[in-house]
Amino acid sequence: MKIIVKDGQQDFDHAAAMEIVQLINKKPNAVIGLATGHTPKGMYKVLGEMCKNNEVDFSNVITFNLDEYLGIKSDHPGSCKSYLQERFYDLVNLKQQNIYHLNSQPEDYEEECHRYNRLIQQIGGIDLLILGIGHNGHLGFNEPNTSFKTEVHVCQLTDRTRTANIWSFGCKEDVPTEGITMGIKNIMGCKKLMLLANGEAKADIVKRALKGVVTEELPASVLQLHNDVVIILDKEANELV
Ligand code: GLP
Repeated sequence: MKIIVKDGQQDFDHAAAMEIVQLINKKPNAVIGLATGHTPKGMYKVLGEMCKNNEVDFSNVITFNLDEYLGIKSDHPGSCKSYLQERFYDLVNLKQQNIYHLNSQPEDYEEECHRYNRLIQQIGGIDLLILGIGHNGHLGFNEPNTSFKTEVHVCQLTDRTRTANIWSFGCKEDVPTEGITMGIKNIMGCKKLMLLANGEAKADIVKRALKGVVTEELPASVLQLHNDVVIILDKEANELV
């Protein structure tokens, strides 16, 4: 596990963006998994600027989004799709056909899970998955006590997760109660993982996840079992080194 600690938002965003740029330089058709949330916003902005300046080329890159809310339209302003559309897809030269998303309104939930699992497999797996961490240690929408054996699945969002995501919906009542997410097994199947965390409020959970006991009660602790993980923190989130 490689741990990088940066001082200040700009350096943090840049370090995260550079992991992606370096991968694409080595493998122009890399498959990248995309998280949402506050944490990676700056990284997406840097990637957009770098693409505009021809410093990185996404024309052969393939992306899969990590998780999505259920029961809202895909173009609802709070959806993960809208987030990525506005903060990433619109800023880079990804090809539309290379962008894969979980459906927020599938007719058949189970079939949607199978479809996404199949797609990930058919494409040959994910080279780099970007992850944030919830205050309760969730990864994607894998809440505490999710089995490490899960693949793409539908999940109930905890009260804490819904509260943390009010910012994208306006009020708690509007935050969906269910999500669909890559499972821990999908996450662990990715060739490389990059976990991003910033701010003092994440310091304790990051430490417990990465230095504590590996347990399904704290989904992010599973990262200790992966052999290629880079952790990018700012000074405030770091109690590790
Ligand atoms: C959300 C998302 C995750 C995200 C995490 C952290 O609920 N489902 O994909 O990584 O929580 O979010 P933030 O960066 O806003 O703290």
